[in-house]
Amino acid sequence: MNYRRLGSSGMKISEIGLGSWLTYGESVEDNNSIDIIHHAYNNGINFFDTANVYNRGEAEKVVGRALSDYARDSYVLATKVYFPMGEGPNDRGLSRKHIVEQCEASLQRLGVDYVDLYQCHRFDPETPVEETLMALDDLVKQGKILYYGVSEWSAAQIADAVHVAKERNLNPMVSNQPIYNMLVRYIEKDVMPVSEANGIGQVVFSPLAQGILTGKYRPGQEVPKDSRAANEDINRFMKQYLNDDVLQQVIRLEDLAQNELGIKLSQLALAWILRKPGVSSAIVGASRPSQLEENLKAAEVELTDDVSGEIDSILEELKHVKL
Ligand SMILES: NC(=O)c1ccc[n+]([C@@H]2O[C@H](COP(=O)([O-])OP(=O)(O)OC[C@H]3O[C@@H](n4cnc5c(N)ncnc54)[C@H](OP(=O)(O)O)[C@@H]3O)[C@@H](O)[C@H]2O)c1
Repeated sequence: MNYRRLGSSGMKISEIGLGSWLTYGESVEDNNSIDIIHHAYNNGINFFDTANVYNRGEAEKVVGRALSDYARDSYVLATKVYFPMGEGPNDRGLSRKHIVEQCEASLQRLGVDYVDLYQCHRFDPETPVEETLMALDDLVKQGKILYYGVSEWSAAQIADAVHVAKERNLNPMVSNQPIYNMLVRYIEKDVMPVSEANGIGQVVFSPLAQGILTGKYRPGQEVPKDSRAANEDINRFMKQYLNDDVLQQVIRLEDLAQNELGIKLSQLALAWILRKPGVSSAIVGASRPSQLEENLKAAEVELTDDVSGEIDSILEELKHVKL
């Protein structure tokens, strides 16, 4: 496993991280979840991502239980705040009140004294960014969080927050967590350049487009029974990908991976991300250890400029497909 600096911070994270959305504390049984997290740790993953809202705290509990077997300083634990955790007017967002209360609640669910990376899960237009940044800065000073970042903020929102933090001499933002994969690339235009200029690393989510970029979904065929797409409780975010135009191009990418490089499509998809400047880690999901095993091998794959060119020309044809 290779480790990269998280943005311009000194903290190093594995270039493949493990997330827990829709899986641990939810669709994957607890014992299996713990086995997968242990498998990840034993194979060099030190970066674990979760969020307070993932099944309303249940994912944090399982992740915390699994990691309690290891020395606290041997892994980097990231969680998030923003989405509703209750029905009350203050049970959501990025106010000082909600951030401070949810940080405390996350620490309890995770069973730790601090989280390494605390992320604002979305931008909150109803809270001044100064208030949010000052609350995060206080948590850093109290030792409850070590670093902070954002998720799915626009380039302008990131730039503004960086400016405010500098002006007020607050601890800087070190990361952004956007969706990024071969099929969804909007961050390349503005978010990546602004982040890079300000020492903010990308820890990208859904790098396999929720499993589409493993090749297991085929055009014109039923989705596999044991897949995320087949699970009606959790597949609502997948519908965008499941169209035959997309799946046809995915087959072309798979042919390139298998026939020219002798690797799996999932490995090609992750290696492609890890070549992009400014990416600190690709956060994968896994519902069983064998998936993780396959995906981890991506860290060993080196793509030549020629192969990258071929990938780009296939992806070019996907630009007309609305996702
Ligand atoms: N910040 C945000 O707003 C946000 C949003 C989404 C996700 N995230 C973070 O990013 C993490 C990863 O997101 P994601 O789960 O969408 O990532 P992903 O890696 O694109 O998809 C993971 C899913 O794909 C399937 N899969 C993975 N590897 C496979 C393989 N080798 N062969 C076959 N199937 C495979 C598995 O689902 P099945 O086996 O069930 O098919 C697995 O759960 C999340 O856990 C979360 O921590 C953050």
